[in-house]
Amino acid sequence: MNPIVRLINSSLGKKYIMGITGAALYGFVIIHTLGNLQIFLPPEAINAYGKLLKASPEILWGFRFGLLGMGLLHVWAAVTLTLANKLARPVDYLDKKPLKATFASRTMALSGIIVAVFVVYHILHFTAHITHPEFAHYKTELDGQEVHDIYNMVVTGFQNRAVSGFYLLGVGLLCFHLSHGIQSLFQSLGLVTEGYRSWTTMLGKVTATAIFIGMAAVPLGVMGGVLKHTLGFHPPVVVKSASSCSISKKASACPAQQSECCSETKECDGTKDCPSMKDNSCPSTKTCPAK
Ligand code: HEM
Repeated sequence: MNPIVRLINSSLGKKYIMGITGAALYGFVIIHTLGNLQIFLPPEAINAYGKLLKASPEILWGFRFGLLGMGLLHVWAAVTLTLANKLARPVDYLDKKPLKATFASRTMALSGIIVAVFVVYHILHFTAHITHPEFAHYKTELDGQEVHDIYNMVVTGFQNRAVSGFYLLGVGLLCFHLSHGIQSLFQSLGLVTEGYRSWTTMLGKVTATAIFIGMAAVPLGVMGGVLKHTLGFHPPVVVKSASSCSISKKASACPAQQSECCSETKECDGTKDCPSMKDNSCPSTKTCPAK
């Protein structure tokens, strides 16, 4: 067998893979936390940062695939190592109380699974905008150019208390996972000797706490009213296409609206005429300013 394949299939090789991919993901989390904290600067700062990240689609997609690959390899190594350990010891110890293992180390698989679910939700929420399609229409001007209004999108996102609560849970579990992960990263890569173990344990706890404070500050900042929408901001309303228009009773009162900009704002609900819709028709962009 090829020596590289043999190493990858060995438990030592998988531990290296866990360590290296864990270190890369950890680096991403630190950079992302620092990037997020720019939300406490004037709104242009985080919007300019978002614009910079998307300036080169090749680099952005290369980075995304790299990150996805790291995440998948990390999960694969974790699952195969856990199964191999279980197979090596099919019967659990009678006294299951571990001597040195901490609660964080014993729950790595569970915290890892919940963090993975959180990350998928997070991407559907703020990057792919699947959970909130209107977020794709948050636009603002920066240096005369139209850019994504990340600042107001994040403020709107975290004004929903259930969403903020889920983020706090996800980020909390991520940091719980990291508090043990950082220490075991040094161990897996053979970078620590017995005498320095307490230092790596401390480093894991301190950095995980700092990351938690940095990440949690954003939803807490919105819920606490420190981060507010910019002056004059109106959330865009996504409108349905004419074919999905549900206006039936008094459609004749607003034919232009029915054919061009079928609003969800209830102005033209059959209860009254809708003169204001004439100002709000938006056939090209399919977004209307909110009332
Ligand atoms: C409260 C905490 C967080 C906030 C406020 C936040 C904010 C954001 C925002 C606004 C974006 C979209 C950026 C854009 O469209 O330009 C984003 C993307 C992303 N976030 Fe977070 N994030 C948080 C926590 C996390 C955590 C804990 C992880 C992973 C462990 C994570 C992983 C990602 C990933 C993978 C992307 C997609 C990057 C891309 O390819 O565009 N985020 N985040």
